[in-house]
Amino acid sequence: MNYVGIDVGTTGIKALVVKDDGGILDRFDHPLKVYNPKPAWSEQDPRDWWNGVSDILRSISQKYKIDSIGLSGQMHSLVALDGDGKVVRHAILWNDQRTTAECKEATKILGGENKVISEVGNPILEGFTLGKILWVRKNEPDNFKKIRHVMMPKDYIVYMLTGELGTEWSDASGTACYDVKARKWNLKVLNSLEIDPELFPPISKSYSPRGMLKASLEKEFGWKNVKVVCGGADNAVSALGIGVFKPGDCMVSVGTSGTIVGVTSSTEPDLDGKLHYFNHVIDKTSYYMGVMLSATSSFDWARKMVASDDSLSKIEEMIRNSPPGSRGLIFLPYLNGERTPHRDPYARGVIFGISSLSKKEDIMRSAIEGVTFGLRDSFELVKQRIDVRSVKITGGGSNNMEWVKIIATNFKVPIEIPKTNEGGAYGAAMLAAIGSGKTFDDVSKWVKVRDTVEPEKKLIGFYDSWYSQYRALYLDLKERFKEVEMIS
Ligand code: XUL
Repeated sequence: MNYVGIDVGTTGIKALVVKDDGGILDRFDHPLKVYNPKPAWSEQDPRDWWNGVSDILRSISQKYKIDSIGLSGQMHSLVALDGDGKVVRHAILWNDQRTTAECKEATKILGGENKVISEVGNPILEGFTLGKILWVRKNEPDNFKKIRHVMMPKDYIVYMLTGELGTEWSDASGTACYDVKARKWNLKVLNSLEIDPELFPPISKSYSPRGMLKASLEKEFGWKNVKVVCGGADNAVSALGIGVFKPGDCMVSVGTSGTIVGVTSSTEPDLDGKLHYFNHVIDKTSYYMGVMLSATSSFDWARKMVASDDSLSKIEEMIRNSPPGSRGLIFLPYLNGERTPHRDPYARGVIFGISSLSKKEDIMRSAIEGVTFGLRDSFELVKQRIDVRSVKITGGGSNNMEWVKIIATNFKVPIEIPKTNEGGAYGAAMLAAIGSGKTFDDVSKWVKVRDTVEPEKKLIGFYDSWYSQYRALYLDLKERFKEVEMIS
């Protein structure tokens, strides 16, 4: 049997062809464009995702027969379709910050934040789907009138593959329209906000087949009886893909966003609303998660500014050549606002402490240290909710060993690097295999640890004090960000 795992990411579509024993036969990539019509607005055209996926499947079909397809996708982003299944407008993405007014108003109508958390398991945040639906209703009434179906990115791809509308636990969790504890749409919330529940698709288990590949596509690709499995939210599916699915397992994902996932069997949300509380792709399992909006995107920004011609290994060398603390530079990685822990759409990036001695390598190192501190903010919160038994790392940033070392030192725990470090696409292939009859136990045997990176004990004390400076700097600037936004 061969399985295909597809991840609908923000910077690109990635697909893997995986054998029955978990071995990777092939990988395919298709880059994607992000549209930023205004600062901190972020959109994509769902048709670009479909073009990428269908191109990749066409290439796969020239080399392989396959049995099932599983999906992983960026969370929260709003896909809106009309009655004919056509895209109404560009998708508003998870890292778009335009919905502050709508989130505040909805929270007020629903009786305040504590009430909202008790209904849906989370506060209503700018990134979540609900605010985006309300924004379109208020600002684009003509578009809103056309909308008959809302869903998340990977659900749109499943729809294009099968013709079936639907979502599943892990992505429904990030809408703020779903009761994470009861695992169903929250009709009370939808009715109070006068949103038609019919807009929302049926919810299934993440590993159930949604349907069979459309006959027209089977014909085009020369395949027969290909199942398409519902799939899941990229953070949950990536966690599965590196073996993070038992209570106490923890994932650090250093991708476009930076996330800390802590798996739990608890049915209690984070009542402070600091950490997200979402269903995992497995029965009776959920996770707490902290999310920073600009992780490798902060690194990429710094690289573009000061090291655009340098290879990754040269950049690793640059980072080694700058001392811990980056010769006094502190980088706040809030390029487009921040979610955890600040929940601040006005926050922006800062490089603080520039002196006449500052060098390019200090800017690169400070970006890495700043993102690490952002991740540490979430890790400290996750530690308060779960008893962490192991920490595994994934995402583009995990290929930079200097960075992994700095993360291990800041977290004060060993960090495990999985042998197959392919993020959501690998977890999606696991879900495809489960949909085709394998068990969770079978696919969990696919996961092996390649390396373990220990904290650098002698730097722990230094990073404790540098981290507190980082935290203080945001507090010093918090009000200033808002004032600058008002006049710019
Ligand atoms: C999670 C989140 C991001 C996206 C990235 O809440 O918004 O991690 O899932 O694709």
